Amino acid sequence: DKGGWPSFMAKEVSEEPEAVANTLRGRIRDGQIVIPELDGLDELFASINRVIVIACGTAAYAGMVGKYALEQWTRVPVDVELAHEFRYRDPVIGPDTLVVSISQSGETMDTLMAVKYARDRGARTLSICNTQGATIPRESDAIVYTHAGPEVAVASTKAFLAQITALYLLALHVARVRGSLSADEARLQVLELEAIPAKISRILELEQSRIEQLAYWMADTRSVLFLGRHVGYPIALEGALKLKEISYIHAEGFAAGELKHGPIALIEPGQPVFVIVPSPRESALLHSKVVSNIQEIRARGARVIAVAEEGDVAVLPFADEVLRIPLADPLFEPLLAVVPLHIFAMGLATAKGLDVDQPRNLAKSVTVE
Ligand code: M6R
Repeated sequence: DKGGWPSFMAKEVSEEPEAVANTLRGRIRDGQIVIPELDGLDELFASINRVIVIACGTAAYAGMVGKYALEQWTRVPVDVELAHEFRYRDPVIGPDTLVVSISQSGETMDTLMAVKYARDRGARTLSICNTQGATIPRESDAIVYTHAGPEVAVASTKAFLAQITALYLLALHVARVRGSLSADEARLQVLELEAIPAKISRILELEQSRIEQLAYWMADTRSVLFLGRHVGYPIALEGALKLKEISYIHAEGFAAGELKHGPIALIEPGQPVFVIVPSPRESALLHSKVVSNIQEIRARGARVIAVAEEGDVAVLPFADEVLRIPLADPLFEPLLAVVPLHIFAMGLATAKGLDVDQPRNLAKSVTVE
């Protein structure tokens, strides 16, 4: 049931605040993380020396975001790998490796096979999944469910936010077990997480119709580029994937620092480029680097659409459009910056008269290799 929305995707984007809130619900007590599903695993979390995250598509981008938090808080090295690449090499894994799989459906064959492969090689496996009782969690040693609710549209939206939320909960939990984060430090991060749902609602309230209008104007666009740095990089990849999937427009996401190593050659007058701008308050250096990237592409005629924090005026002289997100600590910005990109992809597909829920050639869950 679309509940009065024009598409399941529209409904699911509107549910992004709840997807985060429901994934947090019952897992925070007195400012600390409590995940009953992980009881009894302290020894495992204390002993691991490596984490490998495996997933496909959007779930892999959630993993890439999660890597920043996991490494920063737990100090355990983290690799993120596409599930279908993982088992066709000879990965270095063993009992000290925790393999974290991420899957909305829990049925993605590539991810399932990678989990089995890791388990057969002696690694411990933990599944982050949105579907109760699905195959991947059943094949894993431990499960952390995301509580995004059923996701019907082929393009994953609310599940992505719930996956990042679950990874952050896991990272904080492991960090407390290992003692790499104090109770006070963890409490501060928990406060940031708890503030996210209201901030997403604010984006939907203040920016949604403006972004849809922008998408409508851009319906004839043939190619869109997305740039991001640090946690903004996987968000750029996610913005590009969503646009390809449902609006059939060529789109590429790049790490902003790669620009001069190649992609800047693509910039010609009128080329639309979304730029995810890091917070100027929290990461002045990163912010200034991204602003200079914006200047470089603007000088070559790019049409810049910046996704930037409220109050960031440094981007104004160089951006053609600024989509605003509320203030947050850098690690939490992905949970906000992705929302305008989901709205944009949906708006553009709608403006082109396409079926946003059932894009051509794609299935919601890819159960073949
Ligand atoms: O069910 P899963 O999370 O395992 O699915 C993984 C990908 O197939 C999925 O995220 C896909 O990339 C989406 N269609 C993206 O919107």
